[in-house]
Amino acid sequence: MSSKIKDIKAMEILDSRGNPTVRVFMDLEDGTRVRSSVPSGASTGEYEACELRDGDKRRFGGKGVLDAVKNVNEIISPALKGADSTEQMKIDNLLNELDGTENKDKLGANAILGVSMAATKAAAKSHNLEVYEYLGGAEANRLPVPCMNILNGGEHADNSVDIQEFMAVPFGAPSFREGLRYVAETFHTLKKLLKIRGLATSVGDEGGFAPNLQSNEEAIEIIIEAIEKSGYKPGVDISIALDNAATSFVVGKKGEYDMKWSGAGKKSTDEMIEMSKQWVKKYPIILWEDPLAEEDWEGFAKFTKELGDKIEVVGDDIFVTNTKFIQRGIKEHTANASLIKLNQIGTVSETVDAVRLCYEHNWRAFVSHRSGETCDTFLADFTVAMGTGHLKSGSASRSERLAKYNRLLEIEERLGDRAKYYWK
Ligand code: PGA
Ligand code: ZN
Repeated sequence: MSSKIKDIKAMEILDSRGNPTVRVFMDLEDGTRVRSSVPSGASTGEYEACELRDGDKRRFGGKGVLDAVKNVNEIISPALKGADSTEQMKIDNLLNELDGTENKDKLGANAILGVSMAATKAAAKSHNLEVYEYLGGAEANRLPVPCMNILNGGEHADNSVDIQEFMAVPFGAPSFREGLRYVAETFHTLKKLLKIRGLATSVGDEGGFAPNLQSNEEAIEIIIEAIEKSGYKPGVDISIALDNAATSFVVGKKGEYDMKWSGAGKKSTDEMIEMSKQWVKKYPIILWEDPLAEEDWEGFAKFTKELGDKIEVVGDDIFVTNTKFIQRGIKEHTANASLIKLNQIGTVSETVDAVRLCYEHNWRAFVSHRSGETCDTFLADFTVAMGTGHLKSGSASRSERLAKYNRLLEIEERLGDRAKYYWK
């Protein structure tokens, strides 16, 4: 039986925001059939690989992906017919060659990633292996700490909170299953606390609550209260992670920020850092993503110099899962971790390279979903395969978020006694 590719077909489906995205079907000669679906971001970094959209305003306001679908069906599919699905690197190189641009502008990273993930899934299935086993080998036994985004703001919600994500991080739990329970319970307690205060309990794009609060600090304080009222110790059982997504705070020139949603007003890079230092002193913060904007490399390095020995400093928009930018970050001590999003770079091989580069330099790799998601669970298997120790996949609501957490529960159960769970 052969694991060679027999056919690839793509179609347009809708993501969790109701926007079009790409789904790819791959058939192998041995009868294996898999599908993969591509996510999509809202607060995207400038240098992310190209998400190809049709721009035809008559369909989905220009957001259709029929061109990307056509590229899979008419260009990629014939070129990859007969290629061995187990030769991931060869397939990904071929995809890049077919595209021929640096940012995957011609075929679209949405077309390319759909095929790249499908190849991994197909090769695994054809060998009767789970994706995490196929990709990570026998040593793939580390479950990630689920950083659960229980309160949403910024571009992901319509409320008065600037910080895009407030995550509960159950690093003190004994297992993934227990960790997930800790933070899911905290999510439910938070809902009760919001209700008591007469605040909205509707959710944002990633399933966290999106209430109108007086300030960003109030968000942190109410989460701490929810942790305690759920019976856990802040900073011992559960800590807090933040994603400012600060590129969305930028107003005029570099180094000028405006916390416009809360009305906290304009801040310089130094004032942003000062505020962060005070919060780290005051609150059990364990990780801070994109504290500053993607173009503020010096500010980032200053932030890391001040806080990098106390917390994990993660670059998302600034590195866009691209080894070129991560390499620069390592050289300039910009952060001590990189966010990892498959669709920012566009192939499985290049995403693996980004994680490996982080490891080689003692950086951590923080795997992430996108705010526009599907129920594809590749991300969960990828995280275990790479043993990153943490991931973020939104809140304890919205099935596209739970799909990944539930897949991790499955993997943990499958691993049995071999499953490991620890923060660092
Ligand atoms: P995005 O948000 O998917 O909208 O980019 C996630 C993040 O900023 O980490
Ligand atoms: Zn981010």
